[in-house]
Amino acid sequence: MSTFDVAIGVGPAGTAGQLRGPAGVPAHRSGGAGEHGPAGARRQWLVAATGVIGGAGLLASAWPLLDSMEPSARALAVGGPVTVDVSDLAPGQLRTVLWRGKPVWLMRRTDAMVRALEQPNPVLADPASKRSEQPASCANATRSVRADLFVAVGVCTHLGCTPVLRLDDAALNAELHAPGGFYCPCHGSRFDLAGRVVQDVPASTNLEVPEYRFLSDSSLQIG
Ligand code: FES
Repeated sequence: MSTFDVAIGVGPAGTAGQLRGPAGVPAHRSGGAGEHGPAGARRQWLVAATGVIGGAGLLASAWPLLDSMEPSARALAVGGPVTVDVSDLAPGQLRTVLWRGKPVWLMRRTDAMVRALEQPNPVLADPASKRSEQPASCANATRSVRADLFVAVGVCTHLGCTPVLRLDDAALNAELHAPGGFYCPCHGSRFDLAGRVVQDVPASTNLEVPEYRFLSDSSLQIG
């Protein structure tokens, strides 16, 4: 079960005991009237108590809702890890899942795709991903734990559009020397099948690779 924090607003907690009467005597002992008398102190106490009860009520009412969710939906709601089965992912196929509100791609790469990624390509802006975000386990040419499976956040590093996978774009394939790449239709940024950006396009860094780990040959956990 994932955990989450709920901040409870208590209001002016503790202030009732600091109220002062006209002669510097604590109001609750001065016998004064209005905000500084017993009635005022009681009012302050009631405000604080209502805040606590309201916060506790909110937590109590939210918990059954979270507890009733399916594990995957609950994980999404609280930003926890997401488990994905990739056993049926065909070569060249890309699947998108949501993680922390972001689209995350899982793509099965073919041997030809992997071979192309392992060749130096001078058109790439950051071929070794030195300026880009990926876990240490993915700091390699394919930017992945396993060469046949690519995992990346499908959000362009320019202005946040979603690039599209193109396998039959002759111009893109010629530029990347590969059987496919990603194209961002918003402003024309292009990425290879490891999410590495091409030089002289609006995006300046490679696509983000999130933390993930394999749970078995056919499933992995993102986050
Ligand atoms: S958002 Fe991708 S190129 Fe502008």
